Amino acid sequence: MCGIVGYIGQNDTKEVLLNGLEKLEYRGYDSAGIATLNEEGISLTKVKGRIAALRERVDSSIQATMGIGHTRWATHGVPSITNAHPHQSASGRFTLVHNGVIENYKDLKKEYLQDVSFVSDTDTEVVVQLIDKLYQKHQDTVEAFRETMRLLKGSYAIGLIDVEDHETLYVSKNKSPLLVGLGDGFNLVASDAMATLKETDQYLEIFDKEIVLVNRNFVEVQTLEGSVVERKAYTAEIDASDTEKGTYAHYMLKEIDEQPIVMRNIIKNYQNENNELKLDADIRSAMKAADRIYIIAAGTSYHAGLVGKELIEKLANIPVEVHVASEFSYNTPLLSEKPLFVFISQSGETADSRAVLVKIKEMGHPALTITNVPGSTLSREADHTLHLYAGPEIAVASTKAYTAQIAVLAILAVDTANVKGIQLDFDPLQELAIVATAMETLTGQKEEIEQLARDYFETTRNAFFIGRSGDYNVSLEAALKLKEISYIQAEGFAGGELKHGTIALIEEGTPVIALATQENVNYSIRSNVQEVVARGANAMIISMKGLEEDDDSFVVPHVNELLTPLVSVIPMQLLAYYAALHRGCDVDKPRNLAKSVTVE
Ligand code: F6R
Repeated sequence: MCGIVGYIGQNDTKEVLLNGLEKLEYRGYDSAGIATLNEEGISLTKVKGRIAALRERVDSSIQATMGIGHTRWATHGVPSITNAHPHQSASGRFTLVHNGVIENYKDLKKEYLQDVSFVSDTDTEVVVQLIDKLYQKHQDTVEAFRETMRLLKGSYAIGLIDVEDHETLYVSKNKSPLLVGLGDGFNLVASDAMATLKETDQYLEIFDKEIVLVNRNFVEVQTLEGSVVERKAYTAEIDASDTEKGTYAHYMLKEIDEQPIVMRNIIKNYQNENNELKLDADIRSAMKAADRIYIIAAGTSYHAGLVGKELIEKLANIPVEVHVASEFSYNTPLLSEKPLFVFISQSGETADSRAVLVKIKEMGHPALTITNVPGSTLSREADHTLHLYAGPEIAVASTKAYTAQIAVLAILAVDTANVKGIQLDFDPLQELAIVATAMETLTGQKEEIEQLARDYFETTRNAFFIGRSGDYNVSLEAALKLKEISYIQAEGFAGGELKHGTIALIEEGTPVIALATQENVNYSIRSNVQEVVARGANAMIISMKGLEEDDDSFVVPHVNELLTPLVSVIPMQLLAYYAALHRGCDVDKPRNLAKSVTVE
């Protein structure tokens, strides 16, 4: 969701900015722009649409030593060239990019900017006009920037250029992600390290409400009060080659195929030399001390949390509640005496989850984040982190992060059981190795699944996924995958709930995909399928080896019953992929969606 790249250094500004924005495309956006500064002043180019169009539009002869770029995911104002960033103050002195939402932009406009005429509908333009207004008062850009940041309420990551200052990029953030990348004779700013890995692997964190002055040879971090803050750089542990698509047509397919490798990475990283589970002692203590676990997440990560609940309750015998992050903040349930909060987030930047983290930290509760990005906000601000080791996930639709989250939750559950002295007949590392092999078999069966996608989804406008017990959790994720990338209206239901209303939606030819991987409900889910078939549904059963029947459409290899979501989700991901592909959808960048949802 919105991406920022900034650069100050040598003459290659335009290329660095465009390359960086291309790397941020995965976050989701609808318009883009760059501004570069040289002796002739600011050169501004904006487009509605893709970076490829921006690249074509940018004057190829521009030589500039500093600039800022932006991908916008519309919040205030429709996607358009006028609303795209960078925005400029009316005098033309200041040019700014922003990610986030300024909650008090109307108040600021009324109080400080009544005499200014605005060109866009954005909250962002208020910020740049306000900086200009306060510059007139202070005659000093840092002071004007600082006072503006003090006045802003809401979330922001901001990069600012002053046309009279060719030596400084002005940067600040609150709640929205932003990093400074460090180079030799140049420095960078980026929403995430992926944008600038080609240039550097050295980064400096920026904390909320800090101001950073980025020069080509040095970087100065200040508090809002003006004191200088010393901070050490860290090395980003992302391999730039992991972010390439290689021979794949889409990142999503590459990431589906990477799932066996991810399982093996997880096994390797959570195992010690004696083949025992390896987790930090303080995580073990936190899990042991908890009388109830509250899992907080959004979207696909929430669905992984539902599977995690089953794993932790069944294996570690601790009650677990799973909450949608955006609801928890405003409708907080009664908490137990010793709660432990577990945040699940691929990106580690989801604003809804972060809002809960901030709230529960204020209440004094411990937090553990399970994320694919260890240096992310949710990781930094929680007490503990478990890493997913899934490698960068670029496609907007989450696939390998979902299975990685479940695998890590299984390890956490078993480890906690061990710490609590619960005897289990379940070796998670061995079971995950079996899962990895099963995943390999499934990713080798693409043609079969592609044919099913053609048979069931080519023309339909809706689809239902049903399951019972653990399969119900996967049916929710299957429906989300299908709807988000193919735009087919899809819902996941508990098989037993159908008769309580949903069955009214079944018509002649309605696709119903039933998951049947759980022995204790195998008979019941098959009865539910009969009920919809009797009403005209075009039903497909996806079962597991050992539970299959002759006319099942697809059978996944047998794995431990607690881990079936890790394998049954793969045909679901592939069905969604091929449905979207055959319907001509933009698989990796579905409309209206953002990879990293950094506004509430
Ligand atoms: C769906 C998807 C989203 C994310 C959700 C949370 O495919 O990717 O539903 O799961 O936006 O994001 P994270 O996990 O980064 O907190």
